[in-house]
Amino acid sequence: MTSPYGAAAAQRSAAAVRERIGDAVPDVGIVLGSGLGGLASDIENAVHMPFSEVPGFPRATVQGHNGTLVSGTLSGRNVVALAGRFHMYEGHPPQLAAFPVRVMHALGATIYFASNAAGGIRGDLVAGDLMIIGDHLNLSSTNPLTGPVEEGDQRFPDMTAPYDSGLRAILRACAEKLGIAVKEGVYACLPGPSFETPSEVRMLAQLGADAVGMSTVPEVIVARAIGMRVAGMSCIANAAAKLDGKAVLHADVLDVTTRSASGFQSLVRAFVAELSRAK
Ligand code: HPA
Repeated sequence: MTSPYGAAAAQRSAAAVRERIGDAVPDVGIVLGSGLGGLASDIENAVHMPFSEVPGFPRATVQGHNGTLVSGTLSGRNVVALAGRFHMYEGHPPQLAAFPVRVMHALGATIYFASNAAGGIRGDLVAGDLMIIGDHLNLSSTNPLTGPVEEGDQRFPDMTAPYDSGLRAILRACAEKLGIAVKEGVYACLPGPSFETPSEVRMLAQLGADAVGMSTVPEVIVARAIGMRVAGMSCIANAAAKLDGKAVLHADVLDVTTRSASGFQSLVRAFVAELSRAK
């Protein structure tokens, strides 16, 4: 039985996308998290394709996620970016949460750049901070690789270094050059959609989490299984539950990420430019 969100389905989706965007091969696939979709407007010669027109993609349902695939050039390099993603808390299986990564890979992208909004757990991670993801905790209680092995996938992908050290070094160097403060830490993925209780936040801290969110990890697991190099960035939208005594509201998450999006956008543009030179 072939999976509706497996390698063959991704090839079919990529073929349909290619009919719209042309033959340019993207080097980098980027997923833009809540409030971070503004980067899409930095893409030049852009072709926009609503998710509803990509075979295999359902419509994005979360406020702040536009649900558009944007292809074009960023800092002179071909990219494909998704403003919006599919979350497990929408009822989607982890295989669908990760499916866009398979499609970007089928289009030719060898690097996957993930971004998300997250709650800060470590004391120094406060609203508005950017955090390079150094590692993750998969606490989603599931894994997108369960089931038959997809063609081209590894059955047991190594996860000792899911976030590429070379790409992290480029991000740090770009941030320093731009004078943008970045931190680094461990991202924990929970199923959501409820935000965490104070006790859960204390538990996560003890487990080694620096930030918490509800996405990204299924995508990164699949990206590693198909051999992509991965970089990830969390925009810290709030202090996770009660660390600062404030309620966590989705509207605030969007507000903070939208306000810190300009630093994020500059950093991603510089990162992509640096990849051009490195190649
Ligand atoms: N918890 C989980 N996900 C989030 C948070 C949070 O506090 N903020 C933004 N996304």
